[in-house]
Amino acid sequence: MYISKVLAAASLAGLVFGSPLAERQISKLRIMPLGDSITEITCWRALVWDQIAAANYSSRVQYVGSQNSNPQNCKPKTTNWDQHHEGHSGWLAIDIANSYITTWMQKTPADIVMFMLGTNDVFRGHSTNDIIAAYTKIVNVARAANPKMKFIVDLVIPLGTGSTSGITSLNAAIPAWAKGLNSTDSPIVIADCNTGFSTSMLRDGVHPNAQGDQVIASRVGPLLLNYIGQSLTQ
Ligand SMILES: *[C@@H]1O[C@H](CO)[C@@H](O)[C@H](O)[C@H]1NC(C)=O
Ligand SMILES: *[C@@H]1O[C@H](CO)[C@@H](O)[C@H](O)[C@H]1NC(C)=O
Repeated sequence: MYISKVLAAASLAGLVFGSPLAERQISKLRIMPLGDSITEITCWRALVWDQIAAANYSSRVQYVGSQNSNPQNCKPKTTNWDQHHEGHSGWLAIDIANSYITTWMQKTPADIVMFMLGTNDVFRGHSTNDIIAAYTKIVNVARAANPKMKFIVDLVIPLGTGSTSGITSLNAAIPAWAKGLNSTDSPIVIADCNTGFSTSMLRDGVHPNAQGDQVIASRVGPLLLNYIGQSLTQ
């Protein structure tokens, strides 16, 4: 009786996530790999899980997201790696920001979000300003869900097809954007997945091959381990 009253009061007040109740129920640190096909149908998130396992964090963290898949049949060292993610092939940052991120943050709350987004927006001719506005919206929605959200934002990998100026322009804008939105409670760090990533590391002009996956994992993983270490001792 008491418990159901508390739950009713919590849901009436809209305290679905970020509430003390929710935090006590979920003890593992929640990491959301968020993105497009470069997150969904690639192996870097599996390789990052190997880094998590090597650091002995695998029992204390989980990947979260509405998706649970391994479309490339990735075979990292860790056989029981967590295959949850929020990667959606072909999707634009702009659409995710406007139509989806609010629901995702409610359904699978996170403590750490790592995202690479914007490639499809560039491909469809959207401006850097519009993509950066979408990034801002994603960060604001995530912070509304969890004011202590930690972000890893990737500089996007090169495109091997079509004009690359949109990618260059987006990557050039990300550092100042991140600095402007940075905060102690909810830090944003940048994973440079572009420097040293050549188009020969793409399997089809868009998606990383095995070598490209290694590069992304090597840029994202250390920042994630750093966040995990901080979060578990906070
Ligand atoms: C992880 O745990 C193993 C076994 O307890 C230990 O040998 C290893 O040094 C640990 N690694 C780290 C990075 O703490
Ligand atoms: C954001 O602040 C943190 C310290 O809280 C710092 O480590 C990080 O580099 C900053 N990010 C950017 C993009 O300046």
